[in-house]
Amino acid sequence: MDIKEAIINRHSVRHYNDRPIDDQTKLKLEQLIASVNEESGLHFQLFCDDPECFAGFLVHFGRFKGVSDYIAIVGNTSVNDYEEACGYYGEKLVLEAQMMGLNSCWVGGSFSKGKCKAEVKSGEKLLGVIAIGYGVNNGSAHKSKPAAKLCTVPESEMPDWFKEGMKAAMQAPTALNQQKFTIELQGDVPKIISKGGPYTSVDLGIVKYNFEAASGHKVKLYK
Ligand SMILES: Cc1cc2nc3c(=O)[nH]c(=O)nc-3n(C[C@H](O)[C@H](O)[C@H](O)COP(=O)(O)O)c2cc1C
Repeated sequence: MDIKEAIINRHSVRHYNDRPIDDQTKLKLEQLIASVNEESGLHFQLFCDDPECFAGFLVHFGRFKGVSDYIAIVGNTSVNDYEEACGYYGEKLVLEAQMMGLNSCWVGGSFSKGKCKAEVKSGEKLLGVIAIGYGVNNGSAHKSKPAAKLCTVPESEMPDWFKEGMKAAMQAPTALNQQKFTIELQGDVPKIISKGGPYTSVDLGIVKYNFEAASGHKVKLYK
């Protein structure tokens, strides 16, 4: 599976079977997290066999079942646009995990923050977690806003690489599936403009990663 297939195949999965992540895959994930942390200055942390973080009222409300493994999303507030960076690098982890045969779900609210084992140092903030593991299914594609609502470029004027990026942006996970962004093209520079609201900085980072991974073109963000 390559990165474009991972973008197409990734859907939020909230129900996991009890198969533990095998040692080799776990090691690959840990190495990847270490390199992402080094590059970004963020503090993602993997926890396995820790079901407590997903036990409680909010969790049932969010329909999660069988989650015992997760990646804590811990941002260092001194990193430039740390929320957007958490989205960008978190999506990199999600898509790499997908290519390793794992399912996942971004979780901003429906987990027990108090029971999360993440180390949160002074100047850091726990933004959420990414549930991870082998799903009982692969989830299903979300309903997307039409391209014309998310993009100002008419389809007839889109270069092929931009079409690829746009498709991937529309498949990106966003909190409450809100998709509060618009994508423009100025010259040959794609621009993502935020429409504001809760979690939109994280969402924008996620959308940016998907667009860049599929199009091979660097994106500028405007908030
Ligand atoms: C930043 C962020 C926070 C999210 N928080 C939650 C959550 O607390 N509970 C939940 O069930 N899903 C959560 N989701 C998952 C979204 O509902 C999901 O990504 C969206 O509906 C699109 O579906 P898809 O991921 O299957 O494409 C979150 C997603 C993102 C990006």
